[in-house]
Amino acid sequence: MVWHKSRVPETRIVQVADDELKDAVTDACALLRAGEVVALPTETVYGLAADALNPTAVAKIFAAKERPSFDPLIVHIASRGDLKSVAIVPDDIADAVNKLTNAFWPGPLTLILPKHPDVPDLVTSGLATVAVRQSAHPVFRAVNKELGRPIAAPSANRFGRISPTSASAVMKELGDRIPLIVDGGACSEGVESTIISIEPRDGKKPIFRLHRAGPVTKEQLQEFGKVEKVREVQLDAPMAPGQLASHYAPLTPLILLENIADFTPEEGKKYGLLSYTGDDDSPYVTLHEWDAIESLSPGSGKLAEAAIRLFFVMRELDEAGLDAIIAEPVSETGLGVAIMDRLRRAAVRP
Ligand code: TXA
Ligand code: MG
Repeated sequence: MVWHKSRVPETRIVQVADDELKDAVTDACALLRAGEVVALPTETVYGLAADALNPTAVAKIFAAKERPSFDPLIVHIASRGDLKSVAIVPDDIADAVNKLTNAFWPGPLTLILPKHPDVPDLVTSGLATVAVRQSAHPVFRAVNKELGRPIAAPSANRFGRISPTSASAVMKELGDRIPLIVDGGACSEGVESTIISIEPRDGKKPIFRLHRAGPVTKEQLQEFGKVEKVREVQLDAPMAPGQLASHYAPLTPLILLENIADFTPEEGKKYGLLSYTGDDDSPYVTLHEWDAIESLSPGSGKLAEAAIRLFFVMRELDEAGLDAIIAEPVSETGLGVAIMDRLRRAAVRP
């Protein structure tokens, strides 16, 4: 295990090599048991973890992130058998829950279910429902299992900012605020989990309400039910910042340029391009003399690669001293839906 002192002396980063997983897990669990928060890698983004059944520990998540308490957290469980300890699965959706968890857990699918009374109200912001998932990341899974308790973990960024997909990004977001970051390398999905709630239908496949687009796509979910948007009334109920118009935002204004003709650069200003492929002959690349170009999927244009690189590339451009970031849209199919959702929320309103 490599220990290195970070920029900020209070925060340790511990890097996990395959054969040293155990030490990092022991370390993280000791802090979690003491009611502390720890940043852990998941397959989607890095999470800021606390013991989900300890409200004092959970309060530290909200404090470190400066997150408003009306925004509920996702609870992570170590095994499917643990689901009943945090949620109540109604009979009329039990079959759907079984099929979904069989197909997608461990993995980037979060289910909104009626909450178990043991889950503190602070975790769910007083809602009657709880968001649950089982992470597929070996480090997160090992900590969750060793701790023997559910883990509340939102993305490890300050409220409203870009989600971290590496330990160094967590360091930039929360470095002076938390005692430990477990470095498990870059996240393999790159965008946050898909969030759904389930509505039963007599004699028909259930309806899945899509609360947040993510790595598990609409196309994948359709095998098990009908995918529909969240109804307006449901949207007001939890003020869910993942769904707030402005979120995942860099400090540099980001403009999502859906129509190339809309770009009117101002004299003397520095513009960077967040390109899909970065190809020399792409109309976005040739549109302007960019001060910086970053590509989501260099050369080939693959949505999975674009998702993995999205927050990393946003962060790079945010740190490039630009006046504005111009983002090229990607096609809204499969993972492209989650990517465009994040770009729209990161973008400044016209
Ligand atoms: O991939 C992920 O889901 C990551 C990793 C760390 O697991 N976590 C994550 O958490 O993205 P966070 O807090 O950044 O986003 C959780 C979203 C928020 O938009 C929150 O409002 C919503 O889940 N949420 C949580 N509980 C909910 C509930 N009971 N009903 C509706 N939305 C809920
Ligand atoms: Mg988040």
